[in-house]
Amino acid sequence: MFRKWVQATTNAVLLSIVFASLALAQCETGSTRILNSCIANLGVQTMTAASSGYADASKAFNRRFSYKPAAIAYPKTKDQVALLVKCAAAAKAPVVARSGGHSYAAYGLGGQDGALVVDLSSMKSISIDQSTGLAVSQTGNRLGDLAQYIWDNGRRALPHGSCPYVGTGGHASYGGFGLYGRTAGLLLDRVVSAEVVTANGTTLTASAQSNSDLFWAIRGAAPSYGIVTAWTFNTLPAPSSLVNYWYTFSSSLSNAQAVQIIQAFMNFAASKPTKQLQSVANIGVSNGHVYISIMGTFYGTSPDFNSAITPLQNSFPANVGMSLRTTNRDWYGGLTEFTGSLNTSGPDDYDNFFAKSLFSDTAYSQAAITNWVNYMTQQGSSAPIGWWVLIDMYGGSVSDIPEDATAYAHRSAVLNFQIYGYSSNDGHNAWVGQSGIDFINGLTASLDGNPSAAYPNYIDPTLTAAQWQSLYFGGHMDRLKKLKAAWDPFNVFRFPQSIPLPASDTCGLA
Ligand SMILES: Cc1cc2nc3c(=O)[nH]c(=O)nc-3n(C[C@H](O)[C@H](O)[C@H](O)COP(=O)(O)OP(=O)(O)OC[C@H]3O[C@@H](n4cnc5c(N)ncnc54)[C@H](O)[C@@H]3O)c2cc1C
Ligand SMILES: *[C@@H]1O[C@H](CO)[C@@H](O)[C@H](O)[C@H]1NC(C)=O
Ligand SMILES: *[C@@H]1O[C@H](CO)[C@@H](O)[C@H](O)[C@H]1NC(C)=O
Repeated sequence: MFRKWVQATTNAVLLSIVFASLALAQCETGSTRILNSCIANLGVQTMTAASSGYADASKAFNRRFSYKPAAIAYPKTKDQVALLVKCAAAAKAPVVARSGGHSYAAYGLGGQDGALVVDLSSMKSISIDQSTGLAVSQTGNRLGDLAQYIWDNGRRALPHGSCPYVGTGGHASYGGFGLYGRTAGLLLDRVVSAEVVTANGTTLTASAQSNSDLFWAIRGAAPSYGIVTAWTFNTLPAPSSLVNYWYTFSSSLSNAQAVQIIQAFMNFAASKPTKQLQSVANIGVSNGHVYISIMGTFYGTSPDFNSAITPLQNSFPANVGMSLRTTNRDWYGGLTEFTGSLNTSGPDDYDNFFAKSLFSDTAYSQAAITNWVNYMTQQGSSAPIGWWVLIDMYGGSVSDIPEDATAYAHRSAVLNFQIYGYSSNDGHNAWVGQSGIDFINGLTASLDGNPSAAYPNYIDPTLTAAQWQSLYFGGHMDRLKKLKAAWDPFNVFRFPQSIPLPASDTCGLA
């Protein structure tokens, strides 16, 4: 393995010297023309700036961004994906995949102008082997398509997030956490192999047995290494019964009460409760008061839920208007109670937003939470945009996998925070501009001025290279750079936060 890597790296260095001199001339000026004349010969449906559907097809889910791809292609087969990647490589154009298009920074459109977007929406085949439970799903499938299919065909389940329109391509590339995550891990933890088109247009299998170094990299950072055309997931038998639950509190909490409730939630997560229990706190401000709800799922019976949740419930302060509602469901009923319909054939939604993410391995101090809650009521009541905070209880099965087993770098977290500012869907009058970004940054810093980890699925384009490399990938960064040199020596799969080459001087990065 090491020999092969040294060989590949040596070849890469030699070839990049050759190509760098060829590339410079055509980098800035020629690439879109060369790209589009190459693609025109492939027989793949493609939109360019001249096509009538181009404006719609290049809209980002996050309307804060608008980019002009060189072309958006709709391959139907992995061989067409491979031909498209070869055209991009020959034209020195950046190439990205778009699965569900839900990247927070529109990286499915390239995150910059001039990319070739390989849109996977025509690649939606899916099958499941009833004897092994292995499901093979092309990456045009959204989470809703996947969940529906494996439920319909054998009452199977996978852990993933709860927005049906999120794509399986991006979601499993960078993690994939949801209300089954503490029990069953991340969606990427259920991947046993992947069909990947790599930078030189080769289609191969990445698994523990085959191209295992690539397999390591794609489970946490796939967009920098190739286009995954299909995932093979090891599905689980759907849990037969579950309890969904919601805690709500008074709408006139004092800040001190809000701090106590949030502290109770964090301490409970840090106590690492049973993996059967999932929990999310939803926090914001309404009429000058912090509102808090805590909801989640318990995979098991009501009596077992009651004993699992008692330590949390007992740690809430008195007289905060706590009430608890629960429902008993099967897997499908429990999932759709949170997600709504899994049917993704209607038009997708969109938003205009900026979000910060941070992971923590411990509960925050009372002083930090107090500072945070004060910022919420002081600045948050008159914020220039709408905003909310979600705190996921992490750990459980996610933490059972050794940190170095995959490129995903956040196995020891017990809490994941998402701090989200938006302005499109609620009648707010302004798009999220710099004042909105400043507010969200301030809200984040009022809790933690120096976070050590963030979630790449909540990708944040305002981070500097030094910041995101360390926040997303931590100690895995060196290995990721070496694997980038081995698998994508000419940096074909590049976007603003793609893994860089160890020393990068190739087209598009200058
Ligand atoms: C409304 C909403 C709800 C969400 N809820 C959750 C949640 O509950 N839990 C959670 O963990 N995350 C959640 N997310 C975050 C989500 O997981 C990420 O935004 C994810 O990357 C989106 O994947 P996508 O395929 O839809 O996006 P895309 O924009 O298509 O892709 C995202 C990135 O992955 C790359 N990519 C896409 N497909 C492939 C492929 N086949 N091979 C290689 N690279 C590929 C793209 O080039 C891009 O860089 C949510 C996001 C939104 C907008
Ligand atoms: C493409 O890259 C792979 C992995 O580095 C290598 O095994 C294969 O030989 C390459 N194919 C071509 C046509 O260069
Ligand atoms: C999914 O929704 C579409 C309309 O958006 C509808 O035509 C279709 O029948 C629905 N499919 C199912 C299985 O409900």
